[in-house]
Amino acid sequence: MKYIAALLFVLLSHAALADNGLTVTIGKVEKKFTAAALLARPETREIEIDDPSYQKPVKYRAIPVKALLAGMKLPPDAVIEAVANDGFVAQLPTDLLLQPKSGASEAYLAIEPPDARWPVLPGKKASAGPFYLVWLNPAATGIRSEQWPYMVAALRSADSPAKRWKELAVDKSLPADSPIRTGQALYVTQCMACHKLNGAGSADVGPDMNRPASPTEYFQPDALKKYIRDPASLRRWDGMQMPGFGKDALSDHEIDLIISYLGHMAANRKPAK
Ligand code: HEC
Repeated sequence: MKYIAALLFVLLSHAALADNGLTVTIGKVEKKFTAAALLARPETREIEIDDPSYQKPVKYRAIPVKALLAGMKLPPDAVIEAVANDGFVAQLPTDLLLQPKSGASEAYLAIEPPDARWPVLPGKKASAGPFYLVWLNPAATGIRSEQWPYMVAALRSADSPAKRWKELAVDKSLPADSPIRTGQALYVTQCMACHKLNGAGSADVGPDMNRPASPTEYFQPDALKKYIRDPASLRRWDGMQMPGFGKDALSDHEIDLIISYLGHMAANRKPAK
């Protein structure tokens, strides 16, 4: 009997340890949710997605992000930062997450059941859990490849990147429809989740894209484009982490736009304070 009690204790404490939960911070309000509590919520349901991370259709128990954030007041001009355990931080515009219009892409937070872990991600050492932000109907609002953060541990509100970091800003004299500004927007969605630029950003997975030097200065132009499309085509090692961007993630033209933004920032670099 004693033995069984001890065993139960070990099992239960293990399960409790494994469910570290999700921290949601909106403005000054912080809430914590365990996976078990979220799995038990009435809004949580099963959804099936064409999963870009596992590269096949997968079913998840997931809660609509709208339901998760219900009752929390979002500051104006905010983004939600999805903070992952591996240092990845996606900047997700709140109107994208909260879908004011019907027919838009719908954000769900998939919940890894503590007693039924998901498989390890292809090419990684861990699963997409504990939480994974996924989309129903992703094409409707043009959801991009880096807007599916996995290994998420926290969601927190922040000012939009453009408002928060003037270090990302382009020269004011550029016209509103300048392709460099389009490149800047693509950079924020697809690159900033891992890279800083001029020290600006929340992530630290890859190197700074402008300090001390810009890749536009030390990569040959063709090589830089090739690298963004498929880093392993230029150099490879087991620990490499930069994902390739296939044509469905970034067209040739879009890679050119990002490179034009990086080149513009290199030409306007201000020294670090
Ligand atoms: C998931 C994280 C991630 C994303 C997203 C990402 N990168 Fe990277 N990047 C890295 C890491 C990590 C490295 C360092 C090499 C490695 O470990 O693969 C890197 C390296 C690079 C390098 C080489 C720098 C050098 O000096 O060797 C360039 C250029 C680059 N990234 C550009 C980009 C651009 C442009 C985007 C957006 C289109 C982007 N990266 C998106 C993680 C990322």
